[in-house]
Amino acid sequence: MTPIYSKISGLGFYVPETIITNDDLTQYMDTSDAWIQERTGIKQRRWFTYGKDTNAGMATAASRMAIDQAGISATSVDLIVYATITPDYYFPGSAFLMQRELGLEGIAVIDIRQQCSGFVYALSIADQFIKSGMYKTVLVVGSEIQSSLLNKSNEGRGVAVIFGDGAGAAILQATNDVNHRILSTHLHADGRFAEELYVQDPGSSRDGRWITEATIAEGNYNVTMNGSAVFKHAVIRFAEVISESLLANGLTPDDLSLLVPHQANIRISNYVQQQMNLPDEKIFNNIQQYGNTTAASIPIALTEAFEQGRVKPGDLVCLAAFGSGFTWASALIRW
Ligand code: ACO
Repeated sequence: MTPIYSKISGLGFYVPETIITNDDLTQYMDTSDAWIQERTGIKQRRWFTYGKDTNAGMATAASRMAIDQAGISATSVDLIVYATITPDYYFPGSAFLMQRELGLEGIAVIDIRQQCSGFVYALSIADQFIKSGMYKTVLVVGSEIQSSLLNKSNEGRGVAVIFGDGAGAAILQATNDVNHRILSTHLHADGRFAEELYVQDPGSSRDGRWITEATIAEGNYNVTMNGSAVFKHAVIRFAEVISESLLANGLTPDDLSLLVPHQANIRISNYVQQQMNLPDEKIFNNIQQYGNTTAASIPIALTEAFEQGRVKPGDLVCLAAFGSGFTWASALIRW
């Protein structure tokens, strides 16, 4: 039997209209454009508009673009895999809301978290379903509204300046073409570091009700991050998981056409670029414009790279991520 592979046949993204520059953030906290750019590379990010944007609504817009680019009808989608850590509801997940907006009642949906590695995990899940022959067309999405979760006071400024809102999507389709396909995906996690980057509340393992005046006063519904621990682990794991994908396919960093890393922080990307010895034209960064959009960052970056002609048929493209959990993951694609 001819083996079945998956290929990316459409990409899309959506970002909210409102641009928040580093200078705009000074209304909320003591910070500066110089501090933020030097530490993170970020110049601006998008924040959602209440009443206009929702997590699932942004994902729907990104998905429609990916569906159009793939030249298919939405009704050919067999499965949705949706990554987010900022869902519209506690449950059910935003995949259900997007499925409803796309008019795809009845098809399977899977909501996953996996934080900044969410999109690569989702892509891997989609790839397995296609390779097994169970589904032919899978819609993979990463979408985040983080601006409503951030502590925008001085207390939260170390985290609040980093994150932004947006959504990205990809259509994966079955193919027999060995020369244009996802070559492999590689997934990892290490729960020993769960509390190095996390939001504790509202959690179910609380004494009594999960939202009380005490839990609100404790403020653990804000993002807590140990920035230096994240940095140290990220630079090691990014390099490891990129090398793992190349080694698994008998390739070397020289063979890479483009690395699209999760847009965590420009300093992390620069460090990884240096470790892998990649020239500037072989790495794509757009964190300067959008900040860190967690599960949405890779599909937004990949779509922009594609639109700018930096991903062409035959190219070897590596997607790589590191995030809370800790999680780290990669996907190697022959475009
Ligand atoms: N504006 C101005 N000053 C600030 C800000 C801000 N937004 N935030 C913190 N500061 C101050 C601090 O209060 C501190 O002041 P002090 O020296 O008087 O106490 C000083 O700046 C240094 O603070 P640090 O927290 O040590 O800042 P650091 O230089 O480590 O930078 C950062 C913070 C950018 C988060 C850094 O730790 C880092 O690069 N971490 C990597 C992790 C990361 O980027 N995570 C992002 C996403 S996670 C992911 O996607 C996987």
